[in-house]
Amino acid sequence: MVAVKVTSTNSLFSSASPCVVFFIVIAFVLSSAVLCDGGKTGVYARKPEKTGDMPLHSDVFRVPSGYNAPQQVHITQGDHVGKAVIVSWVTQDEPGSNTVVYWSENSNGKRKAEGKVKTYKFHNYTSGYIHHCIIRNLEYNTKYYYMVGDGDSIRKFRFTTPPRVGPDAPYTFGIIGDLGQTFDSNSTVAHYEQNPKKGQTVLYVGDLSYADNYPNHDNVRWDTWGRFIERSVAYQPWIWTVGNHELDFAPEIGETTPFKPYSNRYPVPYVESKSTSPFWYSIKRASAYIIVLSSYSAYGKFTPQYQWLQQEFPKVNRTETPWLIVLMHAPWYNSFNYPFMEGETMRVIYEPWFVKYKVDVVFSGHVHAYERSERVSNVAYNVVNGICTPVKDQSAPVYITIGDGGNMDGLVSNMSEPQPTYSAYRESSYGHAIFDIKNRTHAHYSWHRNHDGNPVEADSMWFFNRIWHRVDESSVSQ
Ligand SMILES: *[C@@H]1O[C@H](CO)[C@@H](O)[C@H](O)[C@H]1NC(C)=O
Ligand SMILES: *[C@@H]1O[C@H](CO)[C@@H](O)[C@H](O)[C@H]1NC(C)=O
Ligand SMILES: *[C@@H]1O[C@H](CO)[C@@H](O)[C@H](O)[C@H]1NC(C)=O
Ligand SMILES: *[C@@H]1O[C@H](CO)[C@@H](O)[C@H](O)[C@H]1NC(C)=O
Ligand SMILES: *[C@@H]1O[C@H](CO)[C@@H](O)[C@H](O)[C@H]1NC(C)=O
Ligand SMILES: [Fe+2]
Repeated sequence: MVAVKVTSTNSLFSSASPCVVFFIVIAFVLSSAVLCDGGKTGVYARKPEKTGDMPLHSDVFRVPSGYNAPQQVHITQGDHVGKAVIVSWVTQDEPGSNTVVYWSENSNGKRKAEGKVKTYKFHNYTSGYIHHCIIRNLEYNTKYYYMVGDGDSIRKFRFTTPPRVGPDAPYTFGIIGDLGQTFDSNSTVAHYEQNPKKGQTVLYVGDLSYADNYPNHDNVRWDTWGRFIERSVAYQPWIWTVGNHELDFAPEIGETTPFKPYSNRYPVPYVESKSTSPFWYSIKRASAYIIVLSSYSAYGKFTPQYQWLQQEFPKVNRTETPWLIVLMHAPWYNSFNYPFMEGETMRVIYEPWFVKYKVDVVFSGHVHAYERSERVSNVAYNVVNGICTPVKDQSAPVYITIGDGGNMDGLVSNMSEPQPTYSAYRESSYGHAIFDIKNRTHAHYSWHRNHDGNPVEADSMWFFNRIWHRVDESSVSQ
């Protein structure tokens, strides 16, 4: 095999016309220029030390007072268009009530919805009573209050529904990934809460509790994580994506069902988007169409996820939802050295669709650092043609890696040098981002380091919609 290959390469060169040789030389010069002319690497780089998880007695993990009081309260979108909400909570002493009582700010009639309760076991851990309840037929753009629990232990929260799905509905998304439950994680949540841009919904790009880093995947750390994030997720939906830390695949202790704790705790409205699995699905929210993919489920040709995505892209009506956003855990474009190329096989299979359907932006996590790409694609390569360098492409998404929420594994600071041209900005610091949709043409994006004051934008850009304002953003000063 090798001998044949060498021979054919030799014959290519020996029989090549001067023109072909010239082309090869030019291609070489161009590709080295491409390699050397990278974007910006943030000068501020935090030491990648690990800070450790917050101890069990920390304030953020406190169990709410009262017998059987609901804890770990969280909400997510409950249908395809934003008129339903799934409310989840856990009771520890007994199942208690499955009812959510809710009312809108501008009416005094209280309504009730009935949920379901379940428990699960993981090795020698038995969960509390996990409740999930969908409330439907909500009005758009309306503030609601809701209550869970019984007797003296009733707890009350509120949320605001998104505006009616439509092309000019402004909306502000927060983006957080790889959060875990360290002091840095707490700082990320605090910065997100205090950001004056006021995110209305979190797009969460996977790796939630990191319970699997504990002996026997100690699921108590799923409970502490649920209590920690309640202060945000009980009041605004977090849109969930699975990461590798949700797999909880542990045959050595008899646990062979992937995603067991995650699936029991974090339901998503996958049936509404004709998906057959909670690990890939889509929602519409205001002027955005959000597709969530699973880096840890089969995605090759003919698999359920592949077939679903193939049918999903043509359904996106950019007149109704101009902004097309994709969430997945493992990034496709990442110039940090660890983890490296884990998203590559999915990129090879799905990237042509992302370019064809002009995805505006892809958010990923997994790499514990921050990076924003240029609009690039790498779809020309077909194994034999050697065209394997990403090229600028105005139909391609911007890829944002934001796995810097602050988990116990610490930051990654080892990056490939020189910075590749596809990389516009990269930095090894903790933070969160805001994607602030203004109208069908413009969205303002910013990344906020935990180290800075709340309003500081460590990295930012104006996004121009790929359908309604297809202008090269890098041609305009940022
Ligand atoms: C589960 O088993 C481990 C040791 O295998 C032990 O340390 C832990 O306390 C046990 N947990 C429960 C809830 O029994
Ligand atoms: C977490 O952050 C919140 C908000 O800043 C603060 O009130 C709380 O004390 C912090 N907890 C820990 C354990 O750092
Ligand atoms: C796309 O959405 C617009 C606005 O809601 C609607 O008028 C149009 O009929 C939709 N197109 C298709 C093909 O459904
Ligand atoms: C950085 O990553 C490269 C490639 O994986 C590796 O060879 C090198 O040893 C790493 N450097 C450090 C300081 O870890
Ligand atoms: C869309 O928003 C941008 C940024 O705020 C603004 O400059 C532009 O005029 C808006 N377009 C319309 C049609 O309102
Ligand atoms: Fe990960």
